[in-house]
Amino acid sequence: METAVYKIDSVERNRRELETAAQVLSRGGLVVFPTETVYGLGADGFNQVAVKSIYRAKGRPGDNPLILHICDTDMLPLLARAVPGQARDLALAFWPGPLTMVLPRTARVPDAVSGGLDTVAVRFPANPIARELISICKKPVAAPSANLSGGPSPTTAQHCIRDLAGRVDVILDGGPCSIGLESTVVSLTGDVPVLLRPGGVTLEQLRSVLGEVRVSPAVTHMLDEGEKAPSPGMKYKHYSPKARVVLVNADTAAYCGYVNSHNKDGVFALCFNEDIEYLNARYVCYGSCRDAASQAASLFGALRALDDLGARVVYAHCPSGSGLGLAVYNRLLRAAAFDVIDL
Ligand code: TXA
Ligand code: MG
Repeated sequence: METAVYKIDSVERNRRELETAAQVLSRGGLVVFPTETVYGLGADGFNQVAVKSIYRAKGRPGDNPLILHICDTDMLPLLARAVPGQARDLALAFWPGPLTMVLPRTARVPDAVSGGLDTVAVRFPANPIARELISICKKPVAAPSANLSGGPSPTTAQHCIRDLAGRVDVILDGGPCSIGLESTVVSLTGDVPVLLRPGGVTLEQLRSVLGEVRVSPAVTHMLDEGEKAPSPGMKYKHYSPKARVVLVNADTAAYCGYVNSHNKDGVFALCFNEDIEYLNARYVCYGSCRDAASQAASLFGALRALDDLGARVVYAHCPSGSGLGLAVYNRLLRAAAFDVIDL
């Protein structure tokens, strides 16, 4: 399949390209598009055959359900058979934005979207290109992150081209994603809301609207063999570069000392700006230790860069774990397959 790449500078000036992409979606094709979190691999969310082709294109297991993207809160009752007050409150506070809500689904949601579950995940993204594409298409757009399954999510069109050229019809290049980590996923299907995946909307922000929010243990712990994942995506290996990643929980001095004493061929540090001057090893930087937003925006690009540099072992400096840092920590834990050293 030939993949067309369209650079989108503005939704007004590039209206023609957006209309072409929306037609591709309406015909059952696949379109990669930017969001403020990561790039998405989109198909018409009501077209079961098109949705199935998403799983093929990225090599995704069929039981890992997809998020439906909408461009107006009014589309929610089409997809969710019950919209509790909590969902309305969250929509008011955080939509459009990096928040996905899991709700009981309607019969209109194809099985291929929900992976056979009785629920559906819905998000209203803020990125104007994403919103315009969905709006022209007039359908919810099903989209996982636009990477090959298991690898780091894409935060630039170049990442998507490397992973998916020849596997999708269109890639819309809207520049780098501003947040750089996938959306927060919160389930509103039980008595108490449950955070399934931390992201751009923080746990603290969710609690400020909802009061009590439980954190799924899978956010920071490995699931036991055979344990049921509340969110199917959590049971799969994720965000992994080819290198073995080890997460090192330590202050600057202890982290740099550890890396320096383990430095040999193929070893790299995945470090903060503040570490650089104390390191005697090759490194890729992922932002400032004091700025989780900079870490989120750099992390996935940094993991890809480590592969390009031929890293075999990566010692990653552990982030703080509060605010947006919880999302950074959650992704790094998975990239490291839960291999953590506490110093
Ligand atoms: O920021 C994002 O959320 C990006 C952009 C493209 O919107 N999308 C994204 O999709 O990260 P994906 O497929 O890579 O991750 C969706 C996560 C998976 O962990 C999946 O298991 C979970 O959401 N999920 C989807 N539907 C669900 C459901 N009905 N119940 C529980 N978890 C669900
Ligand atoms: Mg993904």
